[in-house]
Amino acid sequence: MGKVVVLDHPLIQHKLTYIRDKNTGTKELRELVDEVAMLMAFEITRDLPLTDITVETPIQQAKTKVLAGKKIGLIPILRAGLGMVDGMLNLIPAAKVGHVGLYRDPETLKPVEYYIKLPSDISERELIVIDPMLATGGSANDAIESLKKRGAKKIRLMCLVAAPEGVELIEKNHPDVDIYLGALDEGLNDHGYIVPGIGDAGDRLFGTK
Ligand code: URA
Repeated sequence: MGKVVVLDHPLIQHKLTYIRDKNTGTKELRELVDEVAMLMAFEITRDLPLTDITVETPIQQAKTKVLAGKKIGLIPILRAGLGMVDGMLNLIPAAKVGHVGLYRDPETLKPVEYYIKLPSDISERELIVIDPMLATGGSANDAIESLKKRGAKKIRLMCLVAAPEGVELIEKNHPDVDIYLGALDEGLNDHGYIVPGIGDAGDRLFGTK
């Protein structure tokens, strides 16, 4: 079973409070989401493997460390996932970014990918799927499925806020995927919104309704 980690760093929790606040406007919300994404990236990458190298400092040789070969791919799920990409790229500027857009066909209930564009070497990358709101978990589940079908081997899922229902679905279908959350909320309301949540993340980030 993958890990479920709530990243309860005080700065993440503080900023998340203002993200939740309905009186926070679009500009401030974007800045806060950027900042939280950066902090979450810092926490999520804590266990990346290092390798030893030697460099010359102005004083002498130093045995020191750099990230081992593991290359990172960020995979935001459209549309709200886009809001967390820039913050993460501040910390991981060399990461490649793939995009996944999908919806569920209301008749067949099968996921339909309306957009997918990925780095060519996803099977060699440590992928971080970004889905800010893990509600029922349907989109994240389908996106992870799509990535695995295309050869992805190492996937982490990052969400700003999750409902237990979404976490359970991913744990059940993708036990190899570690899940990193800013907060684990109470559940879902009748309209599928996370409670207390932040509302519609895409609409709030992009100022649409
Ligand atoms: N998507 C959102 O943007 N918000 C929710 O609460 C649930 C799904």
